[in-house]
Amino acid sequence: MKIHHVGYLVNNIDDAVADFQKLGYVVSSSLIFDEKRKIFIQFLEFNPTNTIKNEIVSGGTRIELITPAQGCELFSKRLRSLGSIPYHICYECQDFKEKILELQAEGFLLIREPQVAPAIENRQVVFMYSNSIGLIELLEVK
Ligand code: NI
Repeated sequence: MKIHHVGYLVNNIDDAVADFQKLGYVVSSSLIFDEKRKIFIQFLEFNPTNTIKNEIVSGGTRIELITPAQGCELFSKRLRSLGSIPYHICYECQDFKEKILELQAEGFLLIREPQVAPAIENRQVVFMYSNSIGLIELLEVK
């Protein structure tokens, strides 16, 4: 599986964007409102043409910033207790449904049934949890 993005839960998307820009990232999506989950989402990508301290950096890393909108109690609570944090790594997989079953058989918990991600071309995503490594997200390849 290939890493698609690293998801960050943040208090304020604009502040987070400003700091990621200092690290060489550029905004790569519009600000998306996920109605169902009551969250705002913004994607950033490493700009391969950026140089930091004369060092040419390779591109490819994608960051997903998430901040809760009104009515998203779960994330608001988590932010209050933990502050802004990276909270999941998303893996892209060809065999989406098979991978879910395979990981369940390996002890990963299915947090909830797969759902459509409006922020990622309406592709199916699912969150799974392991006590040892925490939360992962799987993303179908279309
Ligand atoms: Ni994600």
